[in-house]
Amino acid sequence: MPNVTLTIDGQKVTVPAGTTVLEAARSAGIFIPTLCHDPAIPGWGACRLCIVEIPGMRNLPASCVTTATGGMVVYTASEAVIEARRTIIDLLLANHPQDCLTCERNGDCRLQDYAFMYGVKQSSFQGERKNYPLDDSNPYIIRDQNKCILCGKCVRTCQAVPERSVIDFGYRGFNTKVVTAMDLPLGESDCVYCARCVAVCPVGALTYRPLAGKGRTWEMEKKTVTCTFCDNGCTFDLISKQGKVIGIMAKEPGPGRPLCLKGRLGLELLYVAEPMTPMLKKDGRFVPVSWAEALGLDGVVARMKEVEGK
Ligand code: FES
Repeated sequence: MPNVTLTIDGQKVTVPAGTTVLEAARSAGIFIPTLCHDPAIPGWGACRLCIVEIPGMRNLPASCVTTATGGMVVYTASEAVIEARRTIIDLLLANHPQDCLTCERNGDCRLQDYAFMYGVKQSSFQGERKNYPLDDSNPYIIRDQNKCILCGKCVRTCQAVPERSVIDFGYRGFNTKVVTAMDLPLGESDCVYCARCVAVCPVGALTYRPLAGKGRTWEMEKKTVTCTFCDNGCTFDLISKQGKVIGIMAKEPGPGRPLCLKGRLGLELLYVAEPMTPMLKKDGRFVPVSWAEALGLDGVVARMKEVEGK
């Protein structure tokens, strides 16, 4: 593939044709903030935080969906860019709870990082705020739609990675939100709790329930491990605190398939010091079940008892 050379912040950068301006900047070690971008899923250009200034182009284009061309000149941190980024963060904070002190994602939240980086202490916009009830209808994922910034990473990941398409955008304008079919609570949807959506959420809108309240993000360590329950070889993260494994998390999209519920439960039993009681949906409701049932080993256990009794 032919290469193109562009100038980013005065630095000559050569990348393969077809590379986006964001990727070109990152390849040269130049920082551009992003909220909706994920290298594993197609670019979408929703949050606009990655805007840059390119002389000759109208407005400030989103670098994650702008293709780098030969001779292009890009400014990633001009006065106009910084001011526009501040306004975007200001607008996001206008409808975002500011409960960082107790938020599970405190210390691991992109919105918090960027508000700090760009000096936006609180929103200058006043108006109606979302007031959705917390969706804790299932044992694995807690959804707080009030914290959702509508970046769409969960939607696109659910469509592209586990290929489930359980969620999408619903409603319009101010009322737009991420919904399941018929806007049912997650516990009543077809979600299989691979939790990839939680792994990619840049804010505190999605929380992996087994880890909720177990510690702050900076106290936890991650180690990538491969599931051995079948030959798919899904990868996931073991989450530890003070040397003790406290949970497992789906990995962000990338190499490795999404972990299925059986894999997740089996790995919890294998690694987690105090695993939660497995829950399975029966007649539309989550109920606690034995580990043998959760892992699909009921038949095996029954047969062993049969053999033992002979
Ligand atoms: Fe480019 Fe969101 S990261 S538009």
